[in-house]
Amino acid sequence: MADYTREIEKRRTFAIISHPDAGKTTLTEKFLLYGGAINLAGSVKGKATSRHAVSDWMEIEKERGISVTSSVLQFNYGGYCINILDTPGHQDFSEDTYRTLMAADSAVMVIDGSKGVEAQTRKLFKVCVMRHIPIFTFINKMDRDANDTFDLLDEIEKELGIATCPINWPIGSGKNFRGVYDRDTRKVLVFSDTQKGTKEGIEEEIPVDDPHLLDVVSLEQKETLEEEIELLDGAAAEFDQEKVSKGELSPVFFGSALTNFGVETFLKHFLAMTSSPLPRTADCGVVDPMTEEFSAFVFKIQANMNKNHRDRIAFMRICSGRFDAGMEVYHVQGDKKMRLLQPQQMMADDRHVVDEAYAGDIIGVFDPGIFSIGDTICMPSRKFAYEGIPTFAPEHFARVAQLDTMKRKQFVKGINQIAQEGAIQIFQEAKGGMEEIIVGVVGVLQFDVLKYRLENEYNVEIRLDMLPYEYIRWIGNRDQVDVDKIIGTSDMKKVMDLKGRPLLLFVNSWSVGMTLDRNEGLVLEEFSKN
Ligand code: G4P
Repeated sequence: MADYTREIEKRRTFAIISHPDAGKTTLTEKFLLYGGAINLAGSVKGKATSRHAVSDWMEIEKERGISVTSSVLQFNYGGYCINILDTPGHQDFSEDTYRTLMAADSAVMVIDGSKGVEAQTRKLFKVCVMRHIPIFTFINKMDRDANDTFDLLDEIEKELGIATCPINWPIGSGKNFRGVYDRDTRKVLVFSDTQKGTKEGIEEEIPVDDPHLLDVVSLEQKETLEEEIELLDGAAAEFDQEKVSKGELSPVFFGSALTNFGVETFLKHFLAMTSSPLPRTADCGVVDPMTEEFSAFVFKIQANMNKNHRDRIAFMRICSGRFDAGMEVYHVQGDKKMRLLQPQQMMADDRHVVDEAYAGDIIGVFDPGIFSIGDTICMPSRKFAYEGIPTFAPEHFARVAQLDTMKRKQFVKGINQIAQEGAIQIFQEAKGGMEEIIVGVVGVLQFDVLKYRLENEYNVEIRLDMLPYEYIRWIGNRDQVDVDKIIGTSDMKKVMDLKGRPLLLFVNSWSVGMTLDRNEGLVLEEFSKN
């Protein structure tokens, strides 16, 4: 096996997704701890002492305690090279989560055992299921009183439409939490209090039929466990690797990230069950990650990660071959040969320049404003384009009024840059230039981000006037339609997107139907095709 294929083989790239406060940051830190990437979990910028997470970049995230943007971390464990993609923990950023999932080969869903599937995260988790990649569930905080285990699984199945397969099973919860039973080895991994993870736990495993088990669990707990095992073996879905790989069955694990319990067991099983980098579809067919030629696609653009540098970074997922910092590559959408500038990788809270990287890895490169989300980078000798990343239709619209008209230039620059990053979509009145700008977002929190960033990064104050539109339609057959002549309902608005394509905004679905009735031959589409 060539050296580069060995490197690709050991890559595991996954996204981690959760409701805010379910324990994603804590779990990630414990992973890093096992990987030796940090010394003591929690000591990365002291999540335990201050509210800053390793991967939280923006002030607004700290204020609201949610991750707005996604970040990437790499570490090694057990012969694997692991890339973790963090995702925002709020449904308003589900589009960002979807893009991040495009760069991942599997996903880990962290659920708070006392809360189950929470309302705010339902949409994010559904987006996860939509990608058809393997999904692993970690039910956290078992050291606190948790919901009934069968109810938790039921909820995941019903809410998300995915079957579950518990790999282990908790014995009690909260004060009565005694450990987890491994269904495969039929052994109980005994819970030991690590004093919030500051101490190393004692790893003790007791076979379920060993009389010593009664030293750690009560007779009642043992009997309940036996009943539950019987029920499980009869009723729960059996582990089926193929179904897991297709994202139809989610292996479920229980533990407590804070106390380090069940984290390593989860990591080990997960790494064995998930796959090395997956092949991806391009316009030339399916691209094998093991092919020698380098290729990647841009899934995220982030400006001003470092306020002092006013930089803009394009994050790309390497899909095939080996990347070498000096190599000449080809940017398909820009139709240009180039060298990628300052390629870097993240490691805990550190960024460092990379000389080489492999399929499965994520690199951030300096972007002078040429990349867009979904762009393909490949070798000049083998040109092709990966399938694009769909744009979600915005569901909330607002008119942007700039308060200080002297700052027009900064305003236009700022709003355009933020739109290029994919955080918002901007539209103009069908007639008239940038005089009136309408912003569309998938979740209302994105309005806050826009306002905050324009003020803090571009020094521009704005006012947002909410508009009643909820439906947006692109005109599918715009070559055959004179937009000026479209007869709509009185509440319909004609606008244009950044590429000059005409769009219609509607207040309700009735108006959409009415407009279709009134204009024979008009084709309206919910998504932009490119
Ligand atoms: P998030 O990234 O998903 O938002 O969650 P995060 O890890 O920040 O965890 C949220 C809170 O839940 C933190 O407490 C954290 O310590 C706690 N937590 C995480 N895992 C567990 C667990 O397994 N058991 C228990 N009991 N608590 C857990 P906090 O008080 O908000 O912050 P901190 O002061 O402890 O850092």
